Amino acid sequence: MKKLGVLLSGRGSNLQALVDAERRGELGGAIAVVVSNVEDAPGLERARQAGIPAVFRDHRGKKREAFDAEIVDILRAHHVDLVCLAGFMRLLSPALVRAFPGGIVNIHPALLPAFPGLDAQRQAFEHGVKVSGATVHLVDEGLDSGPIVAQEAVRVLSTDTPESLAGRILEVEHRLYPRAVRLLLEGRWRVEGRRIIVEEE
Ligand code: GRF
Repeated sequence: MKKLGVLLSGRGSNLQALVDAERRGELGGAIAVVVSNVEDAPGLERARQAGIPAVFRDHRGKKREAFDAEIVDILRAHHVDLVCLAGFMRLLSPALVRAFPGGIVNIHPALLPAFPGLDAQRQAFEHGVKVSGATVHLVDEGLDSGPIVAQEAVRVLSTDTPESLAGRILEVEHRLYPRAVRLLLEGRWRVEGRRIIVEEE
């Protein structure tokens, strides 16, 4: 059974989607550990409720490399095969990215490469795009710049607010992320340049 490590800083609704998919036998792996840099992140409590080891590590007062080395140690101690970022509000150091080559994945609430970075749903809304969505991508050393694993579009309605758009994107995230994780864990993919080629079932 492949093992997942989830890194988060907040609410943890994507963690919950992964937990629920695992319970349904649809994740293709087991969540071995959840790590947060925020002590009272609701996502940590969700992990505890699900019986998953939940670890808090404070990043404050530490150099990025030192904090990331602690994260790598925790993930390695739990024999993690795939690291899932789920609202982890930290830039990863090159050392952390290199510790899991091709083995870190992120969910982003926009259709990358449009609107990388923070508050992507609001960025898209304010830009006036008619379609946005969610992207699952491998993590490289850039900001939301790694090869794309899966995407799904969400229409922007004239009645939308940034919040209502973010809500519909979040529903898509919760479907898309577990599916993409399963695909990665099952190894039904290969990378050609920037393209991830998926072998369909
Ligand atoms: C999601 O919108 C995700 O796309 C982004 O951060 C948010 C995390 O939400 N990377 P949650 O903590 O999973 O509820």
